[in-house]
Amino acid sequence: MTKTLEVERLSVTYATREGGLQALREVSLEVPAGQIVGIVGESGCGKSTLIGALLHLLPENATRTGGSIRLADEEIATASPRRLRDLRGQDMSVVFQDPMTSLNPVISIGRQMRDIQYRDRIGHAEKNDRAAAMLARVGMPDPKGKLSAYPHELSGGMRQRVAIAMAAMMMPKLLIADEPTTALDATLEIQIIELLKEIQKEIGCAILFISHHLGVIAELCDRVVVMYAGEVVEEGAVEEVFLRPAHPYTQKLIECDPGRLKRKVASLPSIPGSLPDLTNPPAGCIFRARCPYATDICIERPPRVTLTPPHWAACHHAQEVHG
Ligand SMILES: Nc1ncnc2c1ncn2[C@@H]1O[C@H](COP(=O)(O)OP(=O)(O)O)[C@@H](O)[C@H]1O
Ligand SMILES: [Mg+2]
Repeated sequence: MTKTLEVERLSVTYATREGGLQALREVSLEVPAGQIVGIVGESGCGKSTLIGALLHLLPENATRTGGSIRLADEEIATASPRRLRDLRGQDMSVVFQDPMTSLNPVISIGRQMRDIQYRDRIGHAEKNDRAAAMLARVGMPDPKGKLSAYPHELSGGMRQRVAIAMAAMMMPKLLIADEPTTALDATLEIQIIELLKEIQKEIGCAILFISHHLGVIAELCDRVVVMYAGEVVEEGAVEEVFLRPAHPYTQKLIECDPGRLKRKVASLPSIPGSLPDLTNPPAGCIFRARCPYATDICIERPPRVTLTPPHWAACHHAQEVHG
């Protein structure tokens, strides 16, 4: 199976007054071509840091301390700024939670959509036609008329459709979506999820989808990556992981509220205890302090236990949890 994205042992540290905060520790995951992969985990587990590292958009106090990031077999962790600009425009595109992050408030939708086609040697009118066609494709009413509108004249849902249209127009190999539906109501959320599914089929891209909404991940994704406190603790096909989790953290997420996968509950359950201090993370298993399965062996770093490939969990007790 070809891989659109392959992240290997990626580590990122933020310089803080309390010392180095290890936001990502040896994170490995893969996004096979044409698949939709979801990343789930509590707030603070490193999801946005991961996206920032992929796109080279981390804040100044962040350092990548190790690891590799391959996009369609090209090492991009060490790519030049110039190569990255090309990659971000052509091979990777991103949809953020708040579409205003990527839209310019003082430039019309039409001009923004023409501007991103700057590489294409076609005229103004043709760029407009393409932009309008893409807006129509994402379900925008009166797409031609909308070209002269400004972002603030559209509703939140419509702005997110514009952001998706712009991301899709680049025909990226990888489309990254960081909680793109979190700010929307449930009805709009379902529409946007359906739209992402259709876009994936049409342009054949892979999608990396960040969410803390288990129901949405179950609905949309082929694969899921579960993160806890800066580490990937479990990865596998969505049905495998959600029906038979092998990491106690994943099991907790689901067990706290089994209806969560069906009902559209937008928050993760709360698990007793708190996240470890990432400026001084404990040795051994990172989830140990909150884990009902923990034993003495958990002070050692857990192995990566493979269940039904590609399903694996980083837990000494994975077989027992999996049942
Ligand atoms: N600019 C920053 N400086 C210092 N620490 C940061 C910065 N950004 C994020 N962090 C810390 O890194 C960890 C991961 O954060 P983040 O990637 O935003 O998680 P998530 O997106 O899963 O909520 C958290 O402990 C957070 O406090
Ligand atoms: Mg985040």
